[in-house]
Amino acid sequence: MKEIKTELFFGDCTKELKKLPDNSIDLIVTSPPYADQRKSTYGGIHPNKYVNWFMPISKELLRVLKPTGTFILNIKEKVVDGERSTYVMELVLEMRKQGWFWTEEFIWHKKNSFPGKWSNRFRDSWERLLQFNKAKQFNMYQDAVKVPIGDWAKSRLKNLSTTDKKRDNAKNGSGFGKNVSNWLGKDTVYPTNVLHLATECNNKNHSAAFPEELPEWFINLFTTEYDTVLDPFAGSGTTLFVAKRMARNSVGIEIVPEYYDMIKEKLEIESQYILFEERADYGKNKLTKSNSIR
Ligand SMILES: C[S@@+](CC[C@H](N)C(=O)[O-])C[C@H]1O[C@@H](n2cnc3c(N)ncnc32)[C@H](O)[C@@H]1O
Repeated sequence: MKEIKTELFFGDCTKELKKLPDNSIDLIVTSPPYADQRKSTYGGIHPNKYVNWFMPISKELLRVLKPTGTFILNIKEKVVDGERSTYVMELVLEMRKQGWFWTEEFIWHKKNSFPGKWSNRFRDSWERLLQFNKAKQFNMYQDAVKVPIGDWAKSRLKNLSTTDKKRDNAKNGSGFGKNVSNWLGKDTVYPTNVLHLATECNNKNHSAAFPEELPEWFINLFTTEYDTVLDPFAGSGTTLFVAKRMARNSVGIEIVPEYYDMIKEKLEIESQYILFEERADYGKNKLTKSNSIR
């Protein structure tokens, strides 16, 4: 029986990350405070200072991530004085200089974004999920996130044209092409890089909590059981709780005492519950792993 560890540190992740060993983390999933947003709850960083603030943190993240690991950064630039800030773009450029590969940009489509009307723009219903790696080869378990092919495919695949049955190269000479008949007989297919998820409405204890499906999707895609997941801006601890449920070790850091206490308390309640469950003498006990807090 292998143990699943959930470690929680209290403090500024710039300092706390230094306690973690080099090359020890398989996946980092996190949502730092956005520039100047939510100032009333946990402070904001001015957009002009954001890159300088983040660089020492991303340097530590680069150190602790395994060469095969992945870093998913949830971020979105806000509108300042009628213009989108450019700090996220500047951040990507600086992180590349720091040694990161900017592998991919996933989009989190927020299915239930706030209603509203602005004179010069529409409702904001997506956020960036930037993927960074230390190397071009990294662990990725694509089959773990396959999705049902969907009803549209049944009608699309019913009457295939001659073009559908062979590789159809793009007309613009890009070298890309498709063979629609490859999808025949498949129940599941690989997803796109757009995640359609509602924002978290049930977690009333934190103003910016992830929907659980968000860390869950990336944990499935980039880790296997007993791997280690890090969230240096843990908030209400969504990443840690999801990781634990998925039999992954995890490490979280949180600077606000109320949020830190809230995570700690919930972890303690969960381990007591698990201990009770393990001792219970009814039916077959499905649990094969114990859980610990440090
Ligand atoms: C956007 S929230 C993260 C929410 C989290 N994803 C969840 O699902 O609850 C960012 C969190 O980072 C914390 N934070 C801000 N600066 C920090 C720092 N320097 N070190 C550690 N935590 C920090 C804030 O207190 C806040 O809870």
